[in-house]
Amino acid sequence: MIILAIETSCDDTCAAILENERILSNVVSSQTDLHAKWGGVVPDIAKRAHMENILPVIAESFKRGFKMKTMKTATDYIDQGMKKVDVIAVTQGPGLAIALGVGVNTAKELAIKYNKKLIAVNHIEGHMLVNLAKNSAGKPERKIEYPALALTVSGGHTKIVLIPEIGKYTVIGETLDDAAGEALDKAAKMMGLGYPGGPIVERLALKGNPNFMDLPRPLADKKILDYSFSGLKTSFYYKIKDWPKEQIAANLADLSASYQKAVFDTLIRKYKLAIEKYQPKTLIASGGVVSNMALRKDLRRLAKTFGLPIFMPFNKILNTDNAAMIGVAGYCKALRNEFVDKVEELDRNPRLTL
Ligand code: KG4
Ligand code: ZN
Repeated sequence: MIILAIETSCDDTCAAILENERILSNVVSSQTDLHAKWGGVVPDIAKRAHMENILPVIAESFKRGFKMKTMKTATDYIDQGMKKVDVIAVTQGPGLAIALGVGVNTAKELAIKYNKKLIAVNHIEGHMLVNLAKNSAGKPERKIEYPALALTVSGGHTKIVLIPEIGKYTVIGETLDDAAGEALDKAAKMMGLGYPGGPIVERLALKGNPNFMDLPRPLADKKILDYSFSGLKTSFYYKIKDWPKEQIAANLADLSASYQKAVFDTLIRKYKLAIEKYQPKTLIASGGVVSNMALRKDLRRLAKTFGLPIFMPFNKILNTDNAAMIGVAGYCKALRNEFVDKVEELDRNPRLTL
């Protein structure tokens, strides 16, 4: 089955071509530079950029996926490429409404114009199922046994999800306020660092002392599986608010290491509780924050203590938002015959739940 996947839920315009769960191409046009000077994603700017980029990005995904020779216009690639496509998968939500709208409308137009089946995918399902993806050579071979327990952590969400089988999801823990990636981004902003803050904090933390500053581990003592990061953020704010700029600049590595450790300790502690309670057979982790090498190490150590296999995206680009993950989730839905009934009526859903 050949799948064209489209993802525009936030600030990246993404398209991918897959054959079943094999990724033939995965194109991400990042808008990071456009949003960086505002310190976060500006919805109107995101919408305009998505609209400008979506067709060229789809054309590029066809060009790379099918190794097409150079043609004149994006439409030429799309006309040729669509002939080979069986289904179109698109992110329906959750995400930024006007950004989602661009992807959903484009997918609908293509489905109608070329008479293709359409699949609506939940962005979070994509983040989790990306762990089933294979490269074009069919690697890696992974055996995920169920029930699996997923930790998915990005700038928009932080969730622990029990998966008794593919397609069935129970959210057993989630953040009550900020997402973990958002918490990292906000702390980075307080320290005068760039956006997105997660990767910058990771780099600085490598040379820092994680015990430099005593920071809270929110909800740590409670047996509930939910997260909260706003108290940590506020505590950090009050600790450095009266520091002169020079003092912050001189301690960036130690501050980053301490803050990052507080976020990751919290993530791990609740995930550990969830493993003890639900006794899964496999662990899977994903989302932008799982690009972080320190977190990956903590996760591997945790899995080892339980003697469980843990899977994380095999390529960095698969952690952050991308369309290949939507393609894999779309493929799984196609196997279950979950196609959109009336293509014209599909609507974006910014608050879509699992
Ligand atoms: O999955 P993603 O691209 O988009 C959402 O669905 O939100 O995740 C973006 C988030 C941002 O908060 C970013 O700071 C964080 O992932 N992130 C990282 C790293 N790379 C991206 N956080 C920590 N370490 C990283 N290396
Ligand atoms: Zn995401």
